[in-house]
Amino acid sequence: MSMILTIADLKDLARRRVPKMFFDYADSGGWTESTYRANEEDFHKIKFRQRVLVDMSNRSLESTMIGEKVAMPVALAPTGMTGMQHPDGEMLAAQAAEEFGVPFTLSTMSICSIEDVASVTKKPFWFQLYVLRDKDFVLNLIDRAKAAKCSALVLTLDLQILGQRHKDIRNGLSAPPRFTPKHIWQMATRPGWCIGMAGTKRRTFRNIVGHAKGVGDLTSLSSWTTEQFDPHLSWNDVAWIKERWGGKLILKGILDKEDALMAAKTGADAIIVSNHGGRQLDGAPSSIEVLEEIADAVGDTIEVHMDGGIRSGQDVLKALCLGAKGTYIGRPFLYGLGALGKEGVTKALEIIRKEMDITLALCGKRLVTDMGKDQLWR
Ligand code: FNR
Repeated sequence: MSMILTIADLKDLARRRVPKMFFDYADSGGWTESTYRANEEDFHKIKFRQRVLVDMSNRSLESTMIGEKVAMPVALAPTGMTGMQHPDGEMLAAQAAEEFGVPFTLSTMSICSIEDVASVTKKPFWFQLYVLRDKDFVLNLIDRAKAAKCSALVLTLDLQILGQRHKDIRNGLSAPPRFTPKHIWQMATRPGWCIGMAGTKRRTFRNIVGHAKGVGDLTSLSSWTTEQFDPHLSWNDVAWIKERWGGKLILKGILDKEDALMAAKTGADAIIVSNHGGRQLDGAPSSIEVLEEIADAVGDTIEVHMDGGIRSGQDVLKALCLGAKGTYIGRPFLYGLGALGKEGVTKALEIIRKEMDITLALCGKRLVTDMGKDQLWR
């Protein structure tokens, strides 16, 4: 554990502990994966100004996201099938985030349900919603998130149709997973993972099975899932969801200035500048590349968050400098979870916190909230 110093170290360990098809599910992007790669690579083009002989004592990474106090402005992004990286993955990640003091976002496509996560946490978590064709199911999901006292709804806008990921196709990964001899071999070579899975009853999409009409088992879930993403969605849908939900609303998947301006008009509390971790439109720009333009365009009309490619505390600070009030990590916490369960998620957060703290000091700042464009070397 003491030699795990970076998110890349956690990734290496996760690769050795998680069956290939599930590791690849996390570690994949759309088509050529150019946007997936750009998300990480473009951070390296941004440089800080180093400052010396300024008071660097009493530093603080504390901030707020949509008015909620956070130990550092880094939330856990919603990720589907997290419970396949590690048994009860969503419950463990939510607990790690709660103990650390950062928000956890549960995906609609999670393995553990809203109620499962609520049963092991004390503070409110956030819930991510996909607007599916079955509107009764969507309304019911919103009501379940309210009943579980979720404090924000994260509405994902960039998955009206599913992007194509070659690794998943080549691995024969389906939702829900259907296992061939190749998969069984992949799992058999990861005995720790298998033992854990055998010991949990949470192995399917528990937000959906038993709740969506006609979905009572894995077979019916498979055909339901493929039909459900809704190409007809429009900005009007944001209005009825906002009304039904009635709480804090975050719109996720904005990558264009015009869309950001439309989002600000909806009265939502925040947008997430995001390309779904490079999993949807391959060939789109990286999130960090468009962040500044979007943040400048919306000004103070709506809070701006971002995700995509963050692999270090330095990346978080760069995003803050370019106009984000908060950030999210997807794969970094999934690698931690796959590597070491709950401890691994905590480790991912600790790595990022340490990198943020040291960088803040070497930039001559004491407060994370003071990081702005003037801190970048251009
Ligand atoms: C995702 N993402 C995602 N987003 C969402 O709104 N709902 C979801 O169910 C999922 N599922 C999902 C699964 C996996 C395996 C990954 C890697 C990502 C996108 C996610 O919320 C976030 O936008 C990206 O993960 C951010 O990029 P990084 O931090 O992974 O580079």
